[in-house]
Amino acid sequence: MKFAVFASGFGSNLQAIIDAVKNGEISAELALVFSNSRKAHALKRAEEAGIPTLCLEAKDYLTPQSYDRDIVIYLKEHDIDFVVLAGYMKLLTPFFVKEFPDKVINIHPSLLPSFKGIEGIKDAFTYGAKVTGVTVHFVDDKMDHGPIIMQEALDVKEGEPLESLEARIHAIEHKMYPRAIQLFVKGKLKIQGRKVLVLEK
Ligand code: GRF
Repeated sequence: MKFAVFASGFGSNLQAIIDAVKNGEISAELALVFSNSRKAHALKRAEEAGIPTLCLEAKDYLTPQSYDRDIVIYLKEHDIDFVVLAGYMKLLTPFFVKEFPDKVINIHPSLLPSFKGIEGIKDAFTYGAKVTGVTVHFVDDKMDHGPIIMQEALDVKEGEPLESLEARIHAIEHKMYPRAIQLFVKGKLKIQGRKVLVLEK
């Protein structure tokens, strides 16, 4: 099985995935790292790991769909079976999601459906949530919305600075995402409506 990781920024989740592929925790080939931003540090991480990269910028396209169409063509030409979003700061079009049905996974740094959007950690922190966490889910055409694969909660400590909460959430992400990806690779995730059955842990 071949997969692509889509990342727009720092790429710490990408790094956890690269490491997990290397040590056999994920038994699929990471065949492409795609970014919508040339500045993404994720692209450097991919290059250092010898993984092919592709970067397309939305400003070079007339519509979101024409942008996604080019990505889909590339993915199909390269026999990519599934896609992992890791800090990809762009909403996939319904066109893309239809081309890869139930084959796109995302990670979000809150307990969905709370605190959707790009500032999940900060929003929960500012809101005064006592518990927050991490969600891995299948992607549909609404933001941070598809069926939930896995969640982990953590307590927000009293007086804890935002940076500390961020670090603890990222540490959870880096363990959780490879585990969820491997369940997908092994065919252990069965979608039933909004629910995802995990056939075997
Ligand atoms: C992560 O917190 C992820 O959950 C969210 O965006 C962040 C990306 O961080 N979707 P990184 O680029 O993987 O370091």
